[in-house]
Amino acid sequence: MKKILETRKKIDNGIGIVFDPIARSVSLFGADQEPIKRAEFNEWVLGLPMRVVLDITSICNFNCRYCSYGINSGMKGRVNILKEIIFALIDELEAMKVFELSLRGGEPTIHPDFNEIWQYAQKQNFLTTNVITNGFILDYEKAASMLSVNPTARIVASLDGLAETNDVYRDPCQYARVMSWLPDIIRDFPYQVVVLTCLYRDSRKRVVEFSRYLASLGLKFHDFSPLKRLGDASSSAVENFLSLAETKAVQAELDEIKKDFPNFRPIITASQIHEARYPALFNFPVPLFNEIYRGTLARINERGDIWVSARKTLTDQFSPFGNISNQTLMEIWQSSCGNRKQQAERYYQDVPAALRWNGKVIQKELPMSKK
Ligand SMILES: C[S@@+](CC[C@H](N)C(=O)[O-])C[C@H]1O[C@@H](n2cnc3c(N)ncnc32)[C@H](O)[C@@H]1O
Ligand code: SF4
Repeated sequence: MKKILETRKKIDNGIGIVFDPIARSVSLFGADQEPIKRAEFNEWVLGLPMRVVLDITSICNFNCRYCSYGINSGMKGRVNILKEIIFALIDELEAMKVFELSLRGGEPTIHPDFNEIWQYAQKQNFLTTNVITNGFILDYEKAASMLSVNPTARIVASLDGLAETNDVYRDPCQYARVMSWLPDIIRDFPYQVVVLTCLYRDSRKRVVEFSRYLASLGLKFHDFSPLKRLGDASSSAVENFLSLAETKAVQAELDEIKKDFPNFRPIITASQIHEARYPALFNFPVPLFNEIYRGTLARINERGDIWVSARKTLTDQFSPFGNISNQTLMEIWQSSCGNRKQQAERYYQDVPAALRWNGKVIQKELPMSKK
């Protein structure tokens, strides 16, 4: 693994960035190879988005209650992006030297050309390519063949808890099916599986038990993100949001699991999203360089619209930053610099303690800039 890391060191604006595709952590080095301080580096100058989430389809085979992509959610005009367009986008991302590509949807694995798209993406030099999936149409053989292509390929399976909890907001067809292949895949590809769990007040008591169960199966990476809304209704889930204090308490309980399973890494990630509509979510800490942290992420949806940064990604009320039909990705990224800077400044004002909260995600804890 050390070899992979060393060969994949990237330089951006004179700063060496080492992205560990397994832990998904980032270290920064100056020209002298010494670690640099956070005060000397601002993400908004990055010449590339660290992570790009590409929604290759808006079609889904499930009907999860909380999701606006669900089959019964009334979302109109469902589409798959044509594979030729996806290949061209992947080529552009490759040219930009993006670190991580996440294929998502809707349900990405039901895109008619998913296998070809997966193989195509794995041939590039992305440090890691993953797919965020409900896992319903996968089985052991399919998952193993996807992960065998490349040691940094990853499957991110969404599961919110043991069966009863998973069925609250997710499609009840999912749990048994996914658990028919997931434990064996975790056993055989332990560093290539992430379970992604949506966290909310009703599940709060049971997710720790679920997480411990996954750790006992050998899972290394368990990511949690808070409930954001129910379907299209942006405020209807507010009473089911966890406060920051409650979230920290869950993280502390999850951390206890590490005493028995030292390589297990459970982490709750969240973003500062619109405070007026999501008061309980405001002030959530975002680990440094987390995929949704400030300007390090770009999201492209199935219509070619591009959002840059956490706010625009997580709330539907903001218009996209551009569209791939009339601008290149690089042009859009560059023109978003001012916007990313503005958000970063606002972030520092609003969430001063954020970076200290979950130091685990970064390899070195760096002081904050107050520019
Ligand atoms: C939209 S799905 C797309 C990928 C795939 N179909 C899946 O379920 O993993 C991506 C993630 O969004 C999460 N999600 C859906 N609706 C949500 C909501 N209202 N609040 C928070 N997370 C949500 C799901 O749990 C899933 O982990
Ligand atoms: S969460 Fe995923 S599986 Fe469920 S409806 Fe949304 S897109 Fe489909």
